[in-house]
Amino acid sequence: MKTTDGGYVVSKCRAFLLFIAFVGSLIAVGLLVYFLADRPAASSVTNGASTASPSTSGSSKAEVISSNKNVRLPRAVLPIRYDVRLFPVLEKGNFSILGHVSIDVHCKMETDRIVLHSADIVVDPKSVEVMEHGKTMKTLMVASDGIHYDTEMEFLVIRLCPKHKDKLAKGTNYTLSMSFVGHLTDQLRGLYRSTYKEDGIEKYMAVSQMEPTDARRAFPCFDEPNMKAIFSVTLGRHRHMTALSNMPLINTTQMEGTEEFYWDHFAPSVPMSTYLVAFIVANFTQVAADVGNANWKFNIYARPSARNQAQYASEIGPKIQAFFEDYFQIPFPLPKQDMIAIPDFAAGAMENWGLITYRETALLYDEKKSSVSNKERVCEVIAHELAHQWFGNLVTMDWWTDLWLNEGFASYAEYLGSEHVEPGLKWLQQFVTRDLQDVMSLDALESSHPISVVVHHPNEINEIFDRISYGKGATIIRMLAAFLGEKTFRQGLSNYLKSRQYGNAVQDDLWDALTKQAKVNKVAIPTGVKQIMDTWTLKMGFPVVTVTREYDNNTVLISQERFLMQRSNASSQDKTVYLWWVPLTYTADFQTIGSTWLSDGQTSKKHELSIPIDKSQWLIFNVDQMGYYRINYDAQNWQLIGQQLMTNHSAISVINRAQIMDDAFNLAEAGQLDYMTTLNLTRYLEHESDYVPWDSALSGMGSISSMMSRTSGYGLLKKHFRTIITPLYNKLGFDQKMGEDILMTKLRANAVSWACSMGNKDCISRVVSSYAQWMADPENVDIISPNVKGPVTCAAIREGDEAEWEFALNRYMSSNVASEQAVLLASMSCSEKPWILAKMLEMSLNSTSGIRKQDAARVISQVAYNSLGRYMAFNFIRDKWDELRKVFPTTFSSMSGIIKAVAASFNTDLELKELMQFRDERSASLGGAERAMQQSIDRAKNNLNWMRQNYHKVVDWLQRVY
Ligand SMILES: *[C@@H]1O[C@H](CO)[C@@H](O)[C@H](O)[C@H]1NC(C)=O
Ligand SMILES: *[C@@H]1O[C@H](CO)[C@@H](O)[C@H](O)[C@H]1NC(C)=O
Ligand SMILES: *[C@@H]1O[C@H](CO)[C@@H](O)[C@H](O)[C@H]1NC(C)=O
Ligand SMILES: *[C@@H]1O[C@H](CO)[C@@H](O)[C@H](O)[C@H]1NC(C)=O
Ligand SMILES: [Zn+2]
Repeated sequence: MKTTDGGYVVSKCRAFLLFIAFVGSLIAVGLLVYFLADRPAASSVTNGASTASPSTSGSSKAEVISSNKNVRLPRAVLPIRYDVRLFPVLEKGNFSILGHVSIDVHCKMETDRIVLHSADIVVDPKSVEVMEHGKTMKTLMVASDGIHYDTEMEFLVIRLCPKHKDKLAKGTNYTLSMSFVGHLTDQLRGLYRSTYKEDGIEKYMAVSQMEPTDARRAFPCFDEPNMKAIFSVTLGRHRHMTALSNMPLINTTQMEGTEEFYWDHFAPSVPMSTYLVAFIVANFTQVAADVGNANWKFNIYARPSARNQAQYASEIGPKIQAFFEDYFQIPFPLPKQDMIAIPDFAAGAMENWGLITYRETALLYDEKKSSVSNKERVCEVIAHELAHQWFGNLVTMDWWTDLWLNEGFASYAEYLGSEHVEPGLKWLQQFVTRDLQDVMSLDALESSHPISVVVHHPNEINEIFDRISYGKGATIIRMLAAFLGEKTFRQGLSNYLKSRQYGNAVQDDLWDALTKQAKVNKVAIPTGVKQIMDTWTLKMGFPVVTVTREYDNNTVLISQERFLMQRSNASSQDKTVYLWWVPLTYTADFQTIGSTWLSDGQTSKKHELSIPIDKSQWLIFNVDQMGYYRINYDAQNWQLIGQQLMTNHSAISVINRAQIMDDAFNLAEAGQLDYMTTLNLTRYLEHESDYVPWDSALSGMGSISSMMSRTSGYGLLKKHFRTIITPLYNKLGFDQKMGEDILMTKLRANAVSWACSMGNKDCISRVVSSYAQWMADPENVDIISPNVKGPVTCAAIREGDEAEWEFALNRYMSSNVASEQAVLLASMSCSEKPWILAKMLEMSLNSTSGIRKQDAARVISQVAYNSLGRYMAFNFIRDKWDELRKVFPTTFSSMSGIIKAVAASFNTDLELKELMQFRDERSASLGGAERAMQQSIDRAKNNLNWMRQNYHKVVDWLQRVY
């Protein structure tokens, strides 16, 4: 799965209609016939309790299971094959799901019950049937009170009749079948409905999102990743609709008793996990991709009016899929791949095998209205999901504890796939800012967590779809590939996938395969891959490596310790030894690269290296930032690096320039480097025109700026930032140049955004005049390039008044391009009118405002990032807590992003106190946002500390220079 930029969102609806209520509506449409007629004679089935319903039936009967907090299913019975028949009823006033499932199971251990998952589903008790496979099929008796829902565990327990002494026998196969109904909610999980307008008419579609634990909301199933089975899917649909599932359609039959509805039968799947099953019923347009001579078909689906935005995906999709076939040395095993853009989608995208679902902004691209960044996003997400088809789908994590491996790997491989189709975006450079440096800032907090975490409950599982699993996972895999060498890494990986295909694995299985391959290829590593990687996966955080040169005898002393933004008393109670196996690389000229290892046992002893270079020559460690650690140097070496940057910065690699900026800002923030050093280094930026170093520098500058934006020193800070950004702004210009380097187009957006916000007069006047032109001629797409539409709209709204904001709102409402909408919505929060920000906050929760539920959390976060809106957003979430819980129920994890955004720049005593008070008051209802809350408090403490220790130093430096 790919998360949204603002975090993973899920929601929950506890409500469900009772079976009886459904029956009424079904008879009305004449559909019940199918479900009743299709069952064997009722006489062979013992009647279940006719009133059974998830909420009421005897909770006392299953103490055995509920009292045991283990949320895992017992393994007495395992699924072999499912026949799932679902009919999502897409009729206003009757959004429901009629379902039937029959599951072939294998009994591993004698038992009198079958336990599987089910949530918010009502099973028709009379339909439940267990049949023994043998020469003849024999029906077993289900106890009269034998159907029990354990709502807390999300279990459905089916018990055989004790009187008949019926038991499931070890080694025997059975078929369990039942009919059920569910609710086709708008809660963005399980099988749910999405809404959109076509020619002004409201349209509905049904779509599924199962990962991690929501397949159980679509049909009763064994919903754990290592209970793989074959799925034969049948979907009911209106004759004008199309149904899609993981596998191709085999045939279509008419639904009994109706002329309007049909059943689409899909081919049986390969063995796979429940979280990868997908169902769609929609009236979408298909765009067939040209696949050359590949053995599979490849189609993109979108709303008919978004058809032309599917072109880009159809061009790169098959190329990336072919790339991964080659990379993993395993052909894509399914006959087709479909990718579909869903108007309402909680995550960014989901890798369902053969039917990948996306948020519209992650799949659709409009030449005229989307930006380079949008294109980059589409490319990255497609590559991520396609990488999962092997890493994740073919070989799956055994349990969610190893989620990081799944997501970390896909987050790494997405760069390889993207580089293959869009080399101009220099993905391998961008990796360091997009993932590595980004996650370091989170992982430097005491409240971070190890990437490998033991999880049980769905809330805990949902919580780990975070930057640590994705970004840190990707980063340490990249580091691993670097120290093993690309060839060894790739071959070991391919061996691992081949030996476990259609099965499951834990991280140690991958480490074993790589250790073996390293031996075969005679790669020198100091110990096993497992020993090295365990230090990175089982401990949280990462080291700062301190390099101290002895200039008289060419010796370098090296030591490591955990890098923390701030140390508190809590850290002294943590007994973990924070030492890592660190692959170190260094260079003095980027021609010769030296390497060595720090071990996880070197507590006191410093590592000593002899590096014979001239005293006046700089030394740089962590070449191209392949390692997940920061580097601090002695003052003299920092100075040598600074001189080189000022005289000829290109002598240092692009990535290392980004690394130096990021390390310097963060070391200073943590009090480990003098701010003077960092601020002096920023002066070289007047000469810098590469994308990645700027990206690092701007994020460092951004955090100082957000600390100081409400202080008296802000004026001077703006002046400094204006001084260093202006040469870049002048060089790139306001207007896009024909045929320019694509990364320069991307960098221009940053330059315009910063030049304007730091008060560059030319920038502001151009923004104001182009926006005015656009307001006068709204349909003209040539006035403002989509590549600067975000910064221009933001600045124009900041400088402007109600009319500018209203115009953007109108464009938002009338746009058919989701990526354009996202840019407009973000820019609207740049307003400096408090009442406008208040209006946006209100709109976020109002379902008729035109803001989709999937975007609500983002709107609140964006208002919070505005320094004027920050406190308003905090008040808003405090006031509307209960309402927010209704809009983002479930695990509540989308609140994580909101809380983080609100507290990101809190830096006063009062704000910290209020935040802690808020946490205490709401501790019972934080759901999946607990860790985010703690991280926010940590961050606020860091910020407070920053103000105390560094604010004056920065102001002193600014006063001296300006
Ligand atoms: C149970 O089903 C599996 C998978 O279809 C099959 O391999 C096995 O032979 C069956 N066992 C019995 C006892 O029928
Ligand atoms: C599907 O779309 C077609 C053409 O756009 C339209 O004629 C048909 O009525 C639609 N069907 C439904 C069920 O919405
Ligand atoms: C359609 O396919 C299903 C599943 O393979 C099969 O059971 C059924 O007999 C087929 N029906 C027709 C009319 O071909
Ligand atoms: C280099 O000099 C430093 C400081 O005088 C000393 O600690 C270190 O042992 C010396 N190393 C070598 C290899 O001579
Ligand atoms: Zn993923």
